[in-house]
Amino acid sequence: MITRRSLIVGTGAVASATILDARFGRGEITRGGGHLPIPQLIDAANHHNAIRLTVSAGHHEFYKGKPARTYGYSGPILGPVLRFRRGDHVEMSVRNELGVATTVHWHGLLVPGDADGGPQRKIAPGATWRPTLSIDQPAATLWYHPHPHHDTGRQVYLGLAGLIIVEDGIDLGLPDRFGVDDLPLIIQDRVIDETDGSIGYDLGQLDVVYGVRGDTVIVNGAITPTANVPAGWVRLRLLNGSNARNFELRFQDGRTFHVIASDGGFLSRPVPMSVLRISPAERFEILVDFADGQPVVLQTGPDRAMGLFGAISDAGTDEYAPVMRFEVDPAPAAARQLPFQLVEPEAVDPSAAVQRRQFVLNNGLCGQRTRMSNHGNLPAIIGINGQVHDPRRIDVETRLGTSEVWEIVSVGMPHPFHVHGAMFRVLTLDGKPPPEHLTGWKDVVLVEDKAELLVKFTKRATREYPFMYHCHILEHEDAGMMGQYACT
Ligand code: C2O
Ligand code: CU
Ligand code: CU
Repeated sequence: MITRRSLIVGTGAVASATILDARFGRGEITRGGGHLPIPQLIDAANHHNAIRLTVSAGHHEFYKGKPARTYGYSGPILGPVLRFRRGDHVEMSVRNELGVATTVHWHGLLVPGDADGGPQRKIAPGATWRPTLSIDQPAATLWYHPHPHHDTGRQVYLGLAGLIIVEDGIDLGLPDRFGVDDLPLIIQDRVIDETDGSIGYDLGQLDVVYGVRGDTVIVNGAITPTANVPAGWVRLRLLNGSNARNFELRFQDGRTFHVIASDGGFLSRPVPMSVLRISPAERFEILVDFADGQPVVLQTGPDRAMGLFGAISDAGTDEYAPVMRFEVDPAPAAARQLPFQLVEPEAVDPSAAVQRRQFVLNNGLCGQRTRMSNHGNLPAIIGINGQVHDPRRIDVETRLGTSEVWEIVSVGMPHPFHVHGAMFRVLTLDGKPPPEHLTGWKDVVLVEDKAELLVKFTKRATREYPFMYHCHILEHEDAGMMGQYACT
């Protein structure tokens, strides 16, 4: 059997255009430029807490008049924004009309393993899955995406991803008019064929080793769109929905913005920043002040987190590329001040941890450090602790209601590490305390070298429907940089 893994060690591969494309980084907005599409909002409370989604193929025009074949949830690409309230029980119904098996994982949602939509929760073609989601966590921006064994990267790339907004009834006076001053921004990169407008997912060997990167940035499915915002504070819910690319976001005029929330919810106070790195699957909520009425372009710098490959890829340039543009309506925003205080997350107490474990994220081409793994000197091409993911193996058993320190070691290149069914706090990142915007609850963290996380287990997962932990570069995940844990 030829697996993606055996392909990597095969004959010398040619780098695919997916990774190497000098066009990335061209300065101004020359393509796209339409309006920012705002996904439909489905507020569960307005639908008796029962929501239906259909997963199907469709057509989407990245370039006008040139439809691409794409995948979407209840639409041709991406999916509706689902709004849930803490304490509610939402009956989901997900029908699969893709023609191939899929699963729907509620990334960041704290639900038991059997409702979580991991690779074991396959929805066969034509079948419908009906989990009940009991919403039991603070306000946060989460997302949902497919998680089928060996096919996650392709299905996400073709368009399957949607946001989830959890609300908890605490009013902090933040902008909250959806699509007006509270904007969902799903930022992704794609290779889009300029002649026929199509996107495709053809993995070359280096795509597996470094992850698939595109040369074109899309926001909510549109190339460099424009959003019209009111003159005042605007809240942006950022999701990096890329398969592998890290974005280095800043505004072209260098303005300061404030990070108010990370993956799992609010930070204790708004953190002023002018450049924000966001890795695959990470979310940040930021507040931006548009009171000066000036239009501004949101840009991304080159992805510097590509290991060896950085030297010959777009990481070699310093140029910023446009992501989208904001134009300010003359009407003022609702008169609101920047809050000084948000929500103080629970104090971090590493001494409460009942276990310490190490996870070495092995990446083939630079496997010399593989022997650091717990399992001796077992070289793996792409795996964790020297082992490639095996759906029949439970790698870790945890106890419900406890916390553990997980030490993550990246080999070969930086890896965005993610845990299902739990949130964590970053204790150290590359030997130092984390920067302030990474001190709140998280479920993904980009590990350049080493990180220590305090993971809190609050949801049950049986051996039949365990939780996963993995690198969120989807090509790494599909290739086996993933493990699973039960929590009982
Ligand atoms: Cu977005 Cu297994 O995760
Ligand atoms: Cu997840
Ligand atoms: Cu990785």
